[in-house]
Amino acid sequence: MGSKDLIAAARGMRKSKLVKLAVLGTAASVAAVVSSAAPRRGGFDAEIARHAQTMLDEGRKIFRYDTFGSEAFWGEALQLHKAIAGEKNGGVGPGVSPKTALAVGLKVDADALPNALKKQLAAGKVNLDDPATTIALLKLNAVVGVTAFADGNGAVKSIGIQCAFCHSTVDNSFAPGIGERLDGWANRDLNVGAIVSLAPNLQPFTDLLGVDAATVKKVLATWGPGRFDAELDKDGKALRPDGKQAGTLIPPAFGLAGVNLHTWTGFGSVPYWNAYVGATEMHGSGTFFDARLGDKDQYPVAAKSGAWNTRGSPDKLTAKLAALHFYQLSIPAPQAPPGSYDHAAFERGKALFDGTAKCATCHVPPLFTEPGNNLHAPAEIGVDSFQADRSPTHMYRTAPLAGLWTHQKGGFYHDGRFATLLDVVNHYDSLLDLKLSDAQKKDLIEYLKGI
Ligand code: HEC
Ligand code: HEC
Repeated sequence: MGSKDLIAAARGMRKSKLVKLAVLGTAASVAAVVSSAAPRRGGFDAEIARHAQTMLDEGRKIFRYDTFGSEAFWGEALQLHKAIAGEKNGGVGPGVSPKTALAVGLKVDADALPNALKKQLAAGKVNLDDPATTIALLKLNAVVGVTAFADGNGAVKSIGIQCAFCHSTVDNSFAPGIGERLDGWANRDLNVGAIVSLAPNLQPFTDLLGVDAATVKKVLATWGPGRFDAELDKDGKALRPDGKQAGTLIPPAFGLAGVNLHTWTGFGSVPYWNAYVGATEMHGSGTFFDARLGDKDQYPVAAKSGAWNTRGSPDKLTAKLAALHFYQLSIPAPQAPPGSYDHAAFERGKALFDGTAKCATCHVPPLFTEPGNNLHAPAEIGVDSFQADRSPTHMYRTAPLAGLWTHQKGGFYHDGRFATLLDVVNHYDSLLDLKLSDAQKKDLIEYLKGI
């Protein structure tokens, strides 16, 4: 048996056979390599492997389907389900048709649709102008990131949201807005402000912020698709000092393993932010603690509401944070489709990125952020400090760039201030005095599209 044959044999072989093989001279080293790569079938290695699989499965379920009890807010308090159902179906107003739902960026999970319904949809036999169809889709658990709860008679009595609401989209394989789930991808079509604005009862916001409903609606309308303001209910800053909207772009929740600080402004780690969002933004029932947000100068609203020390009971969040964390770290940054960028230009762009354009000093490959404390003062990246100052860090986090091609809609940087990648490159060109030629700028852009 040659060494190649041995390796092939070893790959397809159980450990017991490998042990027998190990007595043969050269086979010993092969067996050592193979058995150290694969976990032992019993013992603690096996326990680790089982645990990893359970965490992955549980985490996926939580990310996609767990509302953490947020129906107490979106349903019972805001009464959003009533606006979706419409007057004809026991709610209020005209209701939300599937066409409207798709237009505000909600996505439909094709895998949750029964085959008969898929056939009817394909044949154009489903009424997409009828809110009753939206209710049927919600009951099938087919609306990504939104779950309806029905009473004993099948009427929708409440509604809750999931992480997937903002951090998933679909591949449009069935129809625009309908397809297979893409977990972790930022939904840059989702108009969170427009959706919340539909709520018949905005009192939770008017009470918290001390403004009237018309003002709340005006602020919600400023965000537009793909943006949300996760700090408004902490610092009460509804608009930037220049009058522009204060929301940030929904970032992807993929490619985050190995990245230290998260969010645009580095609030904390993934589990930190998941507790923050789960308990204080989604309004699930859970625990969130951060004394930094009790500072009444920086966070007057949170200091008053006590959101910095949220103790929801029962706690439907804390026990899920580990698996939720694990799942997000398991989601890779998706590979750019081979035809979506110029490969020769990509290679030239890579050399620039790593070299004269200085990008890699901060966006260190393959993480594309700094190992360590990955934060920068606003002046270092040539932007104002408004959003940074809403974070305890007063800094911007070096955005991990892998999978950038999936979130080009809505622009770049935390608030989408740069509409195109050329705008981003031009910004760095003048900031860092790079003197890039037009051809070099193009190469750098092809690289950014391909990573
Ligand atoms: C209403 C939309 C919305 C929902 C729901 C939501 N997020 Fe987010 N998420 C955002 C926005 C916006 C940010 C950016 C916040 C910032 O930087 O100020 C963000 C940031 C993040 C980040 C940081 C990403 C990075 O690049 O560092 C992670 C991770 C994340 N969210 C995970 C989750 C998880 C897990 C859930 C469910 C518990 C969730 N989000 C629910 C909108 C949402
Ligand atoms: C001093 C550190 C630093 C350098 C050097 C740097 N960046 Fe950045 N980059 C950042 C930070 C911080 C952000 C996040 C900005 C924000 O949140 O608004 C960012 C954001 C970006 C984004 C937007 C990502 C998104 O999701 O919207 C792109 C694209 C980008 N950088 C590309 C580059 C390129 C290309 C270069 C080289 C020409 C470069 N960067 C050089 C720190 C740096």
